[in-house]
Amino acid sequence: MPNISIRPARISDAKALNRYIREIYADAAFLITRPDEFHMSQWRQRYWIAKKLTTPFETCLVAVDGNEIIGMLDCWTDRRRRIRHSTCFAMSVKRSRRGQGVGKKLLLHFTKWVQKHDIIERIELHVHSDNAAAISLYKGVGFIEEGCRKGAVRYEDGRIVDDHIMALWP
Ligand SMILES: CC(C)(COP(=O)(O)OP(=O)(O)OC[C@H]1O[C@@H](n2cnc3c(N)ncnc32)[C@H](O)[C@@H]1OP(=O)(O)O)[C@@H](O)C(=O)NCCC(=O)NCCS
Repeated sequence: MPNISIRPARISDAKALNRYIREIYADAAFLITRPDEFHMSQWRQRYWIAKKLTTPFETCLVAVDGNEIIGMLDCWTDRRRRIRHSTCFAMSVKRSRRGQGVGKKLLLHFTKWVQKHDIIERIELHVHSDNAAAISLYKGVGFIEEGCRKGAVRYEDGRIVDDHIMALWP
């Protein structure tokens, strides 16, 4: 992966990031948001990125190959004092670039960000029980399954799957 780097999203990424997210929602079987449920304009995406850049408890990382966004990871944190040591994240890699180590690189970069953070200590994630690739990635990096929301996800074809909660204290 010689040309692939991980960095925080910049405001100038807004247009490309918005297009990337639309592509991921249109394609990803294992995400909750459906394409018609994503309403963020490119303009609002600029504010969204600005907030991630200026909020110390949140980040949006992108994996880029040259100028192309090929992966994304963003985290959000409830700021109430008793729970702000724990952050939650979501991630994706462009379909044509999967299975090449991009997801692992993004996730390891994020765990380092958490290690350096003054207050955040715990990373939490939610993953559908049938998302084998993601579960394998998370377990490989050290995430432990902590809980399960039985039948919390229903697909359009009627199939119901569980929502697994996994966590890591990096
Ligand atoms: C999950 C996802 C981010 C993984 O990204 P990726 O770049 O393909 O992952 P990597 O190539 O870095 O693989 C890292 C590890 O994940 C696992 N993995 C990746 N693809 C896999 C697959 N198809 N089947 C089983 N395990 C897989 C492997 O354990 C791999 O480690 P290894 O290469 O040492 O064997 C990617 O598949 C994706 O974007 N999926 C759609 C969106 C999504 O489901 N996001 C997660 C929501 S919780």
